Amino acid sequence: MARSQLLLALLCLAASLGAQAAGSGGRKMVGVYELRMGDFSVKVTNWGARLMSLVLPDSKGNLADVVLGKDTIAEYVNDTSYFGPITGRVGQRISRGRFVLDGKVYHLERNDGRNTLHGGGRGFHKVIWTVEEYMPDGDSPYITFYYRSFDGEQGFPGNLDVYVTYRLSAPYTLGVHMNATALDRATPVNLLLHTYWNLGGHGSGDVLGHTLGLFASRYTVLDVDLLPSSGRVAPVAGTPFDFRAPTAIGSRIRQVTGGKVVGYDANYVIDGEQERMRPVAQVQDGASGRAVELWANQATVQLYTGNWLNNTKGKDGKVYNQYAGFTLETMGYVDAVNHPEFPSQTLLAGQEYKHDMVLKFSF
Ligand SMILES: *[C@@H]1O[C@H](CO)[C@@H](O)[C@H](O)[C@H]1NC(C)=O
Ligand SMILES: *[C@@H]1O[C@H](CO)[C@@H](O)[C@H](O)[C@H]1NC(C)=O
Ligand SMILES: *[C@@H]1O[C@H](CO)[C@@H](O)[C@H](O)[C@H]1NC(C)=O
Repeated sequence: MARSQLLLALLCLAASLGAQAAGSGGRKMVGVYELRMGDFSVKVTNWGARLMSLVLPDSKGNLADVVLGKDTIAEYVNDTSYFGPITGRVGQRISRGRFVLDGKVYHLERNDGRNTLHGGGRGFHKVIWTVEEYMPDGDSPYITFYYRSFDGEQGFPGNLDVYVTYRLSAPYTLGVHMNATALDRATPVNLLLHTYWNLGGHGSGDVLGHTLGLFASRYTVLDVDLLPSSGRVAPVAGTPFDFRAPTAIGSRIRQVTGGKVVGYDANYVIDGEQERMRPVAQVQDGASGRAVELWANQATVQLYTGNWLNNTKGKDGKVYNQYAGFTLETMGYVDAVNHPEFPSQTLLAGQEYKHDMVLKFSF
């Protein structure tokens, strides 16, 4: 308790000093950092390497922030919805919070019933990252966060160096580049970006009318705990998971009842070669005219429709209810460390992990 109170006090102090933190590259202090290219801008924080906002125009020129989140860093501390962070060391779920590597059993913190979710209760989303480099404007504004995850953190083996770069690589284009190096032991690594999007603007209502296209003809079948316990990969054809032809998110959502609440929390295998950069999804909001195209070099993508949002306090006095946003979390296979039939997400000592995402917005 003492530790978390100290951390909170530190965060509140840091948040109140946020303005001064900008530009203090390399220091372990929590701050909010902006990247700007004309009327396109994002805000991020090193508390969880988190995307806090993304602002762009609609077809009539009206600006809106299309990312769900909180107003202050302090409010993210108790957040249970994972608004915007990088999650790791292993995103999504690990069955029973355990795995075996090199004949040794590892036990993780269980924070989702009997399973581990998003790297444990104090995963990468709840640690302070170092601001390694920061270029707020110019031709290609970017910020790089760095985190050294220690041997035994949340139960994971070995020291791990992790970098995350957010870059405005062109007008209305956001690149998210993650890499990690296992320094001394083998370890699973499976990072993801857990941003909730609403192209009509955060807090503008639900996303059921957004049109979604997914470059995925197969999905991993998840059980009631959202684990791929059967190891089965099934065709989407003939199921409400089929978004190969762009379809309104809400058109079949009532049929998706496999989890503990109605809505999508589904994992798709992205068509094409696993490590190649390729299209993953396209989403369009007819009302605002905003659209986004997502590219990545990962094997799978988790589609989540904010099924558990319920009177959740958001930014600017807005309240987020069920389906107020969607996430598209590119990643490796869920719980790969417990499924030898899936492509491995385990790094050997000295090996590197790379995860690139590009989000191309238009309006
Ligand atoms: C977070 O939760 C703790 C414990 O419940 C509480 O004392 C604190 O005020 C909360 N912080 C915020 C910013 O809501
Ligand atoms: C990871 O990214 C950082 C920041 O861009 C870079 O300095 C480093 O060389 C990269 N590491 C690997 C192994 O690619
Ligand atoms: C939302 O929360 C209220 C209580 O705050 C509860 O009565 C209601 O059942 C919840 N709705 C859902 C969909 O979980």
